[in-house]
Amino acid sequence: MKFDILKNTPLYEALSERGKRIYLPEGIFYWTGRAKKEAEYIGTIGAAYAYEKDFLSGNSVNWVPCYLEYINDYFNNLDINDLVPYASVSGLEELRTIWKEWIIKKSLFKINTEEEKLLKLEKYTSLPIITAGVTNAIFMSSAMLLNPSESIICPNKRWGNYDNIFTKFLGVNIQSFEFFVDNKLNLEGLKEAIYKVVETQNKIILILGFPNNPTGFIPSWEENAQLIEILKETQKEISRPLVILIDDAYEPYIFSKNVVNRSLFYDVQQLDENIIPIKLDGITKELLLYGGRIGFVTIGLKPKWVNNDKELEILKSEIDNKLSGFNRSSISNCNHFYQAVTTKIFKEKGMDNIIKTRSIIQDMLKLRFEKINSELKKIKNPNISVDPNGGGFFVFLNLNPSKIKARTFADHLLRKYKVGVIPIENLNENINGIRIAYCSIDINQIPEIINRINLALNDFN
Ligand SMILES: Cc1ncc(COP(=O)(O)O)c(C=O)c1O
Repeated sequence: MKFDILKNTPLYEALSERGKRIYLPEGIFYWTGRAKKEAEYIGTIGAAYAYEKDFLSGNSVNWVPCYLEYINDYFNNLDINDLVPYASVSGLEELRTIWKEWIIKKSLFKINTEEEKLLKLEKYTSLPIITAGVTNAIFMSSAMLLNPSESIICPNKRWGNYDNIFTKFLGVNIQSFEFFVDNKLNLEGLKEAIYKVVETQNKIILILGFPNNPTGFIPSWEENAQLIEILKETQKEISRPLVILIDDAYEPYIFSKNVVNRSLFYDVQQLDENIIPIKLDGITKELLLYGGRIGFVTIGLKPKWVNNDKELEILKSEIDNKLSGFNRSSISNCNHFYQAVTTKIFKEKGMDNIIKTRSIIQDMLKLRFEKINSELKKIKNPNISVDPNGGGFFVFLNLNPSKIKARTFADHLLRKYKVGVIPIENLNENINGIRIAYCSIDINQIPEIINRINLALNDFN
C-alpha cells in the first residue's frame, strides 16, 4: 500500500518513525483472498482443515478446521470467575504450571535412563509466561533482547511475519543466511552469519524453529548434533551470550522418521555454555486453537549463573518480573476465557488423552505429507526442486528464477489451472518458489493439484 492520501494528512506528519515504517504486507492475504475467489483447489491456508468425518466419529462431511473432539464441552461450561475477571499479568498460575509440565513431557526424556536430564530440565527452566499467541511471544522476546539497528540472525526461508516484527516494528536488521546447501542445513552459513554479527554486537540473537515455515524442514539427528557442536564451538570462540529464540509453533507435527523428534530447546537447555534457549510455543497449533491466542515464553537457565537454590528461585522471579513488564506494557494480560479452557482440558482430559486425540489429526496430516512428497517426486523438470521437509504444514517448491518468477507462476497457476498457492519471491535473498499448504488440502486432491502444477510448469518451458 502506498498511503497516498494518508501521506498528505497531518496525521502522517505526526507518525513516529515506527508508525511510518509499519504496514500490513499484502502477500499472503492477497493470494489467499484471490484463491478463495478464483481457485478450485486452495493450498494457501496455513491451518489444518479436513472433512469432519475424517477426524471425528460420525459422518459429517463439512470441511472444517480440525479440532480436538471434546473442545465444544468447554465453551458453555465455565464458571463466571473463569470468564469475567482479568487474568493475572503473567497468566493463570495453574496453566503456567501445567504448561511447564507439558514442556517436560514433550522432552521425551525417559525417567529410567535420562533422569539427570529431566531433573536439569525441570530445575533450570523458567515458569512459562503467557502471551497473546506465538506471534506475541516472538515479539516480546525479541523486543527484550534487541535494540533498534542491532541484528537478529534468521534463515532466508522464514515466516514472513518475522520481517514485520523485527524489521518494521523493532527497527532491527535481519542477518539472513542461506538455509540449505545441497539440501542440508547450511551450518557454515550460520557460522558466518554469527561471525559477521559479532563484529558489531556483544551478543548473538538467532531465531530457529523446526518444523520450519515455509519449508517444513526438520534437521536429521546428524544435522542436529552438528548444529549443537557448531553452536558450542562458536560460542566458545566468541565468548559472548548466544540466545536462540526457538519458534516451536509446529512442534508436534513431525512426520518423517529420519528427523529429530523434539524441539531444539531440549538439547540447548542441557548445555552448560552460555547458549540460551527461549522456547516460544502455544495452543495455536498444538491444541488446534488458532483463535485462542494463547502462547508461552519459557527460558532455559544455566546452573553456573547461580550459587545456590535460593539464588535460582530469585533469578526465576526476576525473569518473571521482566517478562511480566512486557505483558503489562503491551497487552496487559491475556484472554482469560481461553486460558481457563486450556487449563480445564489439561486437568480433565490429561496429557496422554490430548496426545491420543490429536494423533488422529497428526496421522491424517502425515498421510498428506507422504502423498504430496511422492507426487512431487514424479515431476521431472530441471527448473524445480523441493526443499527438504519432515513435517509441519507446508512444502516449498523452488523455481529456477531465470526461467520462472514465483509471482508470475502463482498467477498463471491460479488463472489457468485454478490452483491457489503462496508465492515467495525475494531474489535478493535467493528465494523464488511457492509454498503449498497441504495442511488444508484433502489427500484426494493432492494428485490433481500436483498434476496442475506440473502442467503450469510446462507452460514455462
Ligand atoms: C513459524 C510460525 N511462528 C509463529 C506463528 C504464529 O503463531 P500464533 O498464531 O500463535 O501467533 C506462525 C503462524 O502461522 C508460524 O508459521
